Amino acid sequence: MNDQLERLNRLPLRTNLRGLTPYGAPQLDVPILLNVNENTHGVPADVRAAISVAVTQAAAGLNRYPDREFTELREALAEYLGHGLDATNIWAANGSNEVLQQILQAFGGPGRTALGFPPTYSMYPLLASGTDTGYIVGQRADDYGLSAESAALQVKELQPNIVFLCSPNNPTGTGLGLDVVEAVYEAGEASQTIVIVDEAYHEFAHDGTPSALTLLPGRERLIVSRTMSKAFALAGARLGYMAAAPEVTDALRLVRLPYHLSAITQATALAALQHRTALMADVEDIKEQRDRIVSELSRMGLKPAASDSNYVFFGGLDSPHDVWQLLLDDGVLIRDVGIPGHLRVTAGTETETTAFLTSLERILASQAGLPA
Ligand SMILES: Cc1ncc(COP(=O)(O)O)c(C=O)c1O
Repeated sequence: MNDQLERLNRLPLRTNLRGLTPYGAPQLDVPILLNVNENTHGVPADVRAAISVAVTQAAAGLNRYPDREFTELREALAEYLGHGLDATNIWAANGSNEVLQQILQAFGGPGRTALGFPPTYSMYPLLASGTDTGYIVGQRADDYGLSAESAALQVKELQPNIVFLCSPNNPTGTGLGLDVVEAVYEAGEASQTIVIVDEAYHEFAHDGTPSALTLLPGRERLIVSRTMSKAFALAGARLGYMAAAPEVTDALRLVRLPYHLSAITQATALAALQHRTALMADVEDIKEQRDRIVSELSRMGLKPAASDSNYVFFGGLDSPHDVWQLLLDDGVLIRDVGIPGHLRVTAGTETETTAFLTSLERILASQAGLPA
């Protein structure tokens, strides 16, 4: 054990935090960052200008606490989502991680459980642990798929208080059919299970992919979580949100800290929502780069998973960590998600994507003893 950890553990820490190190992907200073599924296209100039004006206006009122109910932002988010939603259906926080944490604070806690289906977003078990909620590891098929039948059976048997369904799933990038959501919701009827569909990457799905938002009417235990960190290129602004029945937003009001969304965050998010045309054009470009990665990796003999997100999970590597390191040596940071034979890469700009593909092809050729 290192000195720092030893000193930490001498404190009267909660038992479930002992021995832990903080979660986080490496933040390295390299030219091409394709490791945490950020929007690689930056904030378009007109959005940047609108944010600057809005933040300057908000700065004039920073001596006052912000609108605790962030009503204007909830109205704008409801308008963006459509599906007949209004501000009473919407809640937001500092990133969807905080929204998920608030859901666990409200509906999880000691003596309660949350079910996830790994490989999935690695924050789910950590958020469960942080709220003293038991985390149950659900089972997927060998190809990482999750059928309605299997998911519903597991929910019926395990009776969790909360289920995490990630669609498209991180790290695999593959979407879930709405039949899975419907079946899980129905299976959770007896145990009154809260069903969270994490749609952080929904905007990158292929055209015509339906959202779980369509299932909200009449399902008061269903929550659809979204974020402005990805499609809206605002990872640094920290704004995540969810849509659900109004009583769910009331439940989250019970656990939120007063004034948790700063006036600067509210102003930034509103400005981006109001100027989203250029942002959505970048989403289309990212989707093209994503599809290009899938077809190029297949051509190289690798096994990319179908992706409805802004990243690609691919298998067929003998030594993924070595490939990860060699890419890094070339200035390209991608993600080793710790799954044998696999790596995950975020779709970059056209130039970044070309740099990744060129470097990878060279590495694979040199590993196979072929001329690079
Ligand atoms: C599936 C999924 N959900 C939620 C998040 C959290 O995003 P944020 O807290 O930035 O909204 C991420 C971030 O990468 C994610 O991959």
